[in-house]
Amino acid sequence: MKRNIRISGTARMPGDKSISHRAVMLASLAEGESRIRGFLHAGDTLSTAGMMRALGAGVREVSDTELAVTGRGLRGLSEPGDVIDAGNSGTTMRIGAGILAAQPFLSVVTGDPYLRRRPMQRIVEPLTRMGAAISGRKGNTLPPLCIRGGKLSGIRYEMPVASAQVKSSVLLAGLFAAGPTTVVEPLPSRDHTERMLSSMGAKIVREGNEVTVHPPDRLLPLSLDVPGDISSAAFFLVLAASVPGAGLRLDGVGVNPLRTGLVNVLRRMGAEIRLESLRQEGGEPVADIEVMGLDLAGVEVFPEEIPGMVDEVPALCVAAALAGGRTVIRGAGELRVKESDRIVAMVSALSSLGVRCGEYPDGLWIEGPSRIAPGMRCDSRGDHRIAMSLQVLSAAAGVPIEIVDTECIDTSFPGFRGILAEVLA
Ligand code: S3P
Repeated sequence: MKRNIRISGTARMPGDKSISHRAVMLASLAEGESRIRGFLHAGDTLSTAGMMRALGAGVREVSDTELAVTGRGLRGLSEPGDVIDAGNSGTTMRIGAGILAAQPFLSVVTGDPYLRRRPMQRIVEPLTRMGAAISGRKGNTLPPLCIRGGKLSGIRYEMPVASAQVKSSVLLAGLFAAGPTTVVEPLPSRDHTERMLSSMGAKIVREGNEVTVHPPDRLLPLSLDVPGDISSAAFFLVLAASVPGAGLRLDGVGVNPLRTGLVNVLRRMGAEIRLESLRQEGGEPVADIEVMGLDLAGVEVFPEEIPGMVDEVPALCVAAALAGGRTVIRGAGELRVKESDRIVAMVSALSSLGVRCGEYPDGLWIEGPSRIAPGMRCDSRGDHRIAMSLQVLSAAAGVPIEIVDTECIDTSFPGFRGILAEVLA
């Protein structure tokens, strides 16, 4: 479907959010000074920096995107003087809890109203099994969490859900445990924690769907260049892919194979996407991505593909609404417990814009190509990825959409609007 929209140019994405979180946490546990270049300066990652400062680490902003972190070593953190505020960030609370569970002191972690609705049972259960005392609202399932850490034992933990946050939380607790800790994954999830820990000298062993951490004596400091965030790139990949004739280049994006599910699906839909100058930076694969827009066709997305694109599904829904035919996404029940229920959020926004779509308990279907109704009002539900997806839909369809609450975009991608305006110019 020809639309009169021009999308071209080259853009650089902000630093990867998952890697930025992990870098501040692990650098705080290292011995000596770490340098983190390309750090994501956004609400969520600043929450993690604030948490590590509250625990006594020296976290200094050398510039907007570079941190110098003076680590306190594995035994050197101190009891925070106040409640820790994780803001909107599930990663701060869940992975951070893995560290707090092992400290010989009390920590209380809370968050904003969205985070206080998100399930914490998934980390409370294994961390309690390791020996921590954790309580929370609603039978220890919801934040705030009150964590009395202490001596932990290594466990073997079979995760009921594929979650990199849960895996990372248990692995970080395992750094401090007596004996090795093994996590068994139902499906492979992002492995940034494992890669970073290995680069800091910890012994991490992967065997099939199991990963084991052997408690190290110490962690070496990091000198890290954080790659561009593929989850932020996702919005621009979808924008260019969905507009026939568009061409966009995104430089220096992390292309860890456990994060590139969206690239595979967009290619299946007919988009031309090339990964150029593939290289390794900071133990992670990085590439310049070229994307060309063509007429896309609806596809089926399978449950085993979801962990590799879990944050990109709202953006994919935009491509699906503009593609010809039906897209079916299954095995995505985890979307219901993200910053919002992303299945409800996308189906209700797309429906109000005139897109034929519907829910499954574990996913959604979308029928395209749709003519997007102009001037409608849609609610982001305070969810950054919903807000950005709707802005991309508006840009790709060339139709104004009034989006309620776009401030939440700053939790992961403060420069989003500026880059969008540039590539549309
Ligand atoms: C993340 C893992 C994913 C993702 C989140 C970041 C991480 O969550 O949705 O935005 O950094 O480990 P789950 O582990 O809950 O799937």
